[in-house]
Amino acid sequence: MIKAKRLGYAYFETADLEQQIDYFQNVVGLTVAARDGNRVFLATNTGLLSVVLQKAAEQRCARLGFEVSPELSFEDMKKRLLADGFPSDIRSDALPGTPKSLTFTDPKGTQVDLFSEWSFLPVTPVTSGAGPNKLGHLAWVCQDPKAISDFYVNVLGFRVSDWIGDYFGFLRCGVDHHTVNFIRGPQERMHHFAFELRDPTHLHNACDLLGRKKLEIVWGPVRHGPGHNVAAYHRNPDDQMVEFFIDLDKMLDEELGYFDPRPWHGDRPQKPKVWSPNEPRDKWGLPPGPNWVRQNK
Ligand SMILES: [Fe+2]
Repeated sequence: MIKAKRLGYAYFETADLEQQIDYFQNVVGLTVAARDGNRVFLATNTGLLSVVLQKAAEQRCARLGFEVSPELSFEDMKKRLLADGFPSDIRSDALPGTPKSLTFTDPKGTQVDLFSEWSFLPVTPVTSGAGPNKLGHLAWVCQDPKAISDFYVNVLGFRVSDWIGDYFGFLRCGVDHHTVNFIRGPQERMHHFAFELRDPTHLHNACDLLGRKKLEIVWGPVRHGPGHNVAAYHRNPDDQMVEFFIDLDKMLDEELGYFDPRPWHGDRPQKPKVWSPNEPRDKWGLPPGPNWVRQNK
């Protein structure tokens, strides 16, 4: 089986490339590691490629990159995908630091790149912006979250961490409680993406930064139920919802099957489960504001 291990990068198209570069540098705190005409490659200060921006007619998340176990060869992964009805292409040197990737289109229409060989990019660290550890997860609205979840589990090796009712799935591919979310909705679109920060002081400073930049915090800080992360959400200039989070639950041992215990857990042990859609789930914090609830432009 293909075993996804980590969310590597998200590939965003944007109508205003310079505005988005400014946002990712000066609010998120990524650094431009390379530029290739109308494509820009942004990395964390450690050199982890996290975001690719490409100029296009309008904003959308066009692709996701996942690091996979090197256990299966690219040819074997290609055969595995084809057996499930998903043709794929092997690409060479498509992105800096990633010499080879296998690309296919997932059942909801997103291009997915799988890679196992990669290197940190040489970067000049920036001191502006939040400066995250990593791109942590990405959430999608889709018409059939169960079908997409089944594909990610059966074909890409994800595990189900939690569901809220039958409309909001949380899937992990490493120790983090979720790397992808699938939320039922009328049209296929990205819901939000999230950067992991270090600790409460880092999140506090990031919220101060959003205030200085006049970017409204549309929800949070709040401690969620599923995943138990403390999260603060804002919208970037492309009206994409962006989450900064800390304290996400971790399943350190898949064989044991429970999340590493934390004082705020409601279950002891905290295991994957279906959360009731009819009960308050967040541990603390106010409900989302109108600019979180509304649809993207
Ligand atoms: Fe999230």
